[in-house]
Amino acid sequence: MSLIVSGGTVVTAAGRFQADVRVDDGKITALGRELAESGDTVIDASGKHVLPGGIDVHTHLSMPSMGTVTCDDYYTGQVAAAMGGTTSHIDFCIQSKGSTLRAALDTWHGRARGQAVIDYGFHVAVTDPGPDTLDEISTLPEQGVTSIKLFLAYKDTLQIDDMAMFRCLERARDAGILTLVHAENGDAIEVLMAQAVARGELAPKYHALTRPPELEAEATGRAIALAEVLGAPLYIVHLSCRPALVRVREAQARGARILAETCTQYFFFTKHDLDRPGFEGAKWVCSPPPREIEDQAALWAAVRDGSLSVISTDHCPFRFDTQKSLGVGNFTLIPNGVPGIEERLMVLHQAGVRGGKFDLERFVALTATNPARSFGLEGVKGSIAPGFDADLVLWDLDRAHTIRAETNHSAIDYSLYEGMQVVGMPVTTIIRGRVVVDEGRLIAERGSGQFLHRQRI
Ligand code: URP
Ligand code: ZN
Ligand code: ZN
Repeated sequence: MSLIVSGGTVVTAAGRFQADVRVDDGKITALGRELAESGDTVIDASGKHVLPGGIDVHTHLSMPSMGTVTCDDYYTGQVAAAMGGTTSHIDFCIQSKGSTLRAALDTWHGRARGQAVIDYGFHVAVTDPGPDTLDEISTLPEQGVTSIKLFLAYKDTLQIDDMAMFRCLERARDAGILTLVHAENGDAIEVLMAQAVARGELAPKYHALTRPPELEAEATGRAIALAEVLGAPLYIVHLSCRPALVRVREAQARGARILAETCTQYFFFTKHDLDRPGFEGAKWVCSPPPREIEDQAALWAAVRDGSLSVISTDHCPFRFDTQKSLGVGNFTLIPNGVPGIEERLMVLHQAGVRGGKFDLERFVALTATNPARSFGLEGVKGSIAPGFDADLVLWDLDRAHTIRAETNHSAIDYSLYEGMQVVGMPVTTIIRGRVVVDEGRLIAERGSGQFLHRQRI
């Protein structure tokens, strides 16, 4: 007995066509016309578009940071994701100083176990790159982890130096692991922040003013240079501005293995949002900060021409009432990060597809197919073809929705997109052939999400 998703318009990164999708044991087994046979379970997708489930490769659930912990755990964060049409994510698992990568993974597996409703993988953030940790990097692929993350910012907490970056890139290259970098110059930022505080410049807007685009471009170029010397693959996370994009494009033109993502919020907001009245601007405090309108235009062009191949969220939610408020009177104490895991597909569809920036095929490429290909999920996730997991989203191009924090599903108390009207949204989310969300109702059982054991890069 099969599941048939019948009568929809199937959309992949390469095109769209009318087809039924047959699913057996959680996998897509056929695409074609009138596939339903007696006894099959049929989901009527007529009038809908059938997209591969969204893949968000940059999230921070239950992550300790700046004296607090992101407010979405594996359950609330993943329910929010599923409601928004995302069926897999890759979360950042952070090494504690003095501890091992293995211990960090054990901690993060414990957080997800019994809670997950969508599929999930881990990147390991290397924060204490001593000799034992470097040796441990080569053991990650056998644990299903084929990407590491290095922070070039967050001085004295997460930041590593260039020698450590070089060594990690080398070990990762040899193990078939992709290295991700948070590219901002944390040393210069530290000086700028201290000077701002000394001058009494303490409001949220100074977060943006002490993290100028040049310092993102510098760190991006530095990481690229080291990766190129080693012939190591590199992925720049949350690229926010034109000067950093220039470095990426130059490297790609030289044939270097450099990939880069941007995140949803950088298309919609600018540094001026951090200057909203009172303390409101704290809601937009993230690193790198939102930039200028000109940078937004550059990002739209880059996702069109492919120099940026992924749009993720950097979902790193801190409640406004009890967490962002830690930084009232001192912007350096505002927890860094913004939410967006539920809104990503809807707002990008609205501004990107309906706004004429790119078509539905590129929307699928940027939010599902390219993330899967870049992170060792090729042939398993991110497209609609025989052999792939049946992770499907029934998308209604005509359904209108107003984004509101109170009707969202995250544990956070605000949305950056509050009041935004979208036309086009997911109505049914299917993971491995199981309906997890239908018409806004959660059907998935807690604990039904599975760990993604990813292939080498
Ligand atoms: O401000 C941000 N982006 N917080 C999350 C951690 C990171 O840098 O990705
Ligand atoms: Zn980062
Ligand atoms: Zn992040």
